[in-house]
Amino acid sequence: MATDLPSPDEQGTERAGVVLLCQDFAANLAFFTETLGFRVETIHPADGPTHASLIGHGSRLFLEIGQDQSLKIRMSIATDNPLFGQTLTAPNGSTVEFVNAKPGLVIEPLVSSLVVDHVVADGSSQVGRAGMLYRDLVPGRQGGAIIASLISIAEGGPVPDYVHYHDVLFQLIFCRSGWVKVVYEDQGEPFILHAGDCVIQPPTIRHRVLESGDNLEVIEIGYPAEHLTNADPTMSLPNSEINPHRVWEGQSFIRHIAANAKWQQLSTGVESTDTGILTATQGLTDVKVIKADATSTWKQETIQPLTFEFLFVLEGDAHVSTSNNGEHALANGSSLVIPPGNSYTVKHDKESQILKLSLQAIK
Ligand SMILES: [Fe+2]
Repeated sequence: MATDLPSPDEQGTERAGVVLLCQDFAANLAFFTETLGFRVETIHPADGPTHASLIGHGSRLFLEIGQDQSLKIRMSIATDNPLFGQTLTAPNGSTVEFVNAKPGLVIEPLVSSLVVDHVVADGSSQVGRAGMLYRDLVPGRQGGAIIASLISIAEGGPVPDYVHYHDVLFQLIFCRSGWVKVVYEDQGEPFILHAGDCVIQPPTIRHRVLESGDNLEVIEIGYPAEHLTNADPTMSLPNSEINPHRVWEGQSFIRHIAANAKWQQLSTGVESTDTGILTATQGLTDVKVIKADATSTWKQETIQPLTFEFLFVLEGDAHVSTSNNGEHALANGSSLVIPPGNSYTVKHDKESQILKLSLQAIK
C-alpha cells in the first residue's frame, strides 16, 4: 500500500498518539501523571497550560483543552498491581481499564462433535492475516479448543509476512499442494515445504513465511483455537543460532519431508508414515499420513476421551463408517472430525492419501 506519510525520523520528531480533550486541564493532567504514571513530554503555554503531550506505558497522549469526550483507554499492568481489573474515570470522562500485561493462554475445554467438511467451491474462504485465504474446516471449533484451516494462495510470489510467533500449545503446518518457503528460529537457512511435507511450530518459535508458489494449499491446525500472533521486530531470520534440538515449552521443532518418509504397513495395501510429531510433542499429538491402494481398508480402534480425531483427504477418497456417528463419504479435499467413543473403518475406492491427526486435549 502506497503512503505519503514520512517514516519516523531519527530525532523522533514524528509523533503519533491519542488526543484527549478536557475542560479542567490541571485536574486531568494530575490524573494522567500522578494517578496513571504518565510523564510530561511537552507542555505549553508555560503561563497557563492548555496542551501537553504525555508518554508512558508504551503510549503517547495529547491532552488539550476542548469539549469533554468519553474515550476508553486500555492499560496493561501486572496482575498483582492493586489496579488490576479495575476501571478508573478521568475528570474529562475518559475511562481507563487495567488489563493483564501478559495474558496467558486460555485453554477452552474440548467439546467434541462430528464435523464433516465437504469441499465445495462456495466462496466460504475469508481473507486472513498476510493476505492469505482461510477456509474453516472445523466451524464451531470444538468449543474453542481447535482451529483447523485450509489456507490457500492462488498466485505465488513474496508473502507479506513478518517475524512472529504464536502463543499456542500445538500448531501443525501441512503443505497439501504447491510449495511455500519458510524460515524458523534456530533452524538455519530458509527451506521449502513441498506437497506432503509438514512442520510443527512449537510454542513461541519465531518464524516467517517468505514466498509461495502458485496454488499453494496449507492445512493449519492449532490448539487452542483462539491464540495470539505476536510480531517480533527484534529478531530477523534466519538467525545465527542453529539448534535443531532446542525445546520450546516441552516441544521440539519437526520438519517432516515426504520424499524421505519411511512407510509401515497398516493393513493390506495400506501404509502409514510417522512424522515424529508424537515424540516431539511428548504425546500431545500424533500426525500420520496414510497411503492406501484402491479398494483397500483400514481400521481405527476406539477413540479415547478428550481426543480430537481429524481426517483430511489429501488425495483420492475415503468412506468412513463410524461405530456411533454414521457413515461419511469424503471426496478429495474433504475432512472429518470423529468424536471420542467411536471406532471406525475407512474404505478407499481410489488410490488415496489421508492426513490423520489425533490430539490429546488437556481438558
Ligand atoms: Fe505463524
